[in-house]
Amino acid sequence: MALDLGGGFTLRQARDDDQDALAMICLKTGDAGKDASAREDDPILIGAIYALPYQAIEPLFSFMIEHPDHGACGYVLGAPNTQRFYSVIEETWYKALRTKVADPGPDMRQWRGSDWARRLIHHPRYVFPKSLHAYPAHAHIDLLPAAQGKGLGTTALRFLMAQFATRRIEGMHLGVDPKNTGATRFYERLGFERLVADDLPAGSLYMVTKL
Ligand SMILES: CC(C)(COP(=O)(O)OP(=O)(O)OC[C@H]1O[C@@H](n2cnc3c(N)ncnc32)[C@H](O)[C@@H]1OP(=O)(O)O)[C@@H](O)C(=O)NCCC(=O)NCCS
Repeated sequence: MALDLGGGFTLRQARDDDQDALAMICLKTGDAGKDASAREDDPILIGAIYALPYQAIEPLFSFMIEHPDHGACGYVLGAPNTQRFYSVIEETWYKALRTKVADPGPDMRQWRGSDWARRLIHHPRYVFPKSLHAYPAHAHIDLLPAAQGKGLGTTALRFLMAQFATRRIEGMHLGVDPKNTGATRFYERLGFERLVADDLPAGSLYMVTKL
């Protein structure tokens, strides 16, 4: 299956051999939507948290955007049941990753480069409080600059939302870096609203919609 997005761009299900591309796209968009390469000393870890496990655990809800000239230039990744996804990722993905990545300890002042990611791998923050239960699916979307601003993000996220909706999932949420005002605007254009609730972590931003 490949969906024609126009302008030579297509969307298709992500495969096992997309893991390098997923990690690269996650890194190049990982600093509130901008390139995080200069910040990270390990180029894979950010993707190992936010992108790769979705393809591994939820292949039916993981899609790549590609172009004959640009190659893989975006993804939209989802988990239909956040509670289940967090439990599987803990038991499989993170357990394996922890054997390869050392915990830098709790003192943030000592952290350098990708230490924030190493810490998170050992101490994941699974945010799924009661206020999010009405929005049980969640997703991540990232496009490289060559694919941005062409309506592809809208089509790709709507496609994933339709996949969720056909499985009668009632709602979905997205965690957004509060500094990423462009992404917030994008989600609002798609009908998402900012969720305000006491049980969300301080300083976090979650956008939600019914499906
Ligand atoms: C955010 C992102 C997914 C949007 O996808 P896109 O294909 O570029 O957006 P679209 O072309 O479909 O835009 C749809 C609408 O959102 C708005 N929008 C998209 N990106 C925006 C931005 N950075 N700032 C302000 N508005 C933006 C568009 O103006 C458009 O509104 P309009 O209909 O009024 O013209 C994409 O730009 C991206 O991946 N950016 C870098 C990574 C990132 O920030 N990911 C989100 C992490 S939470």
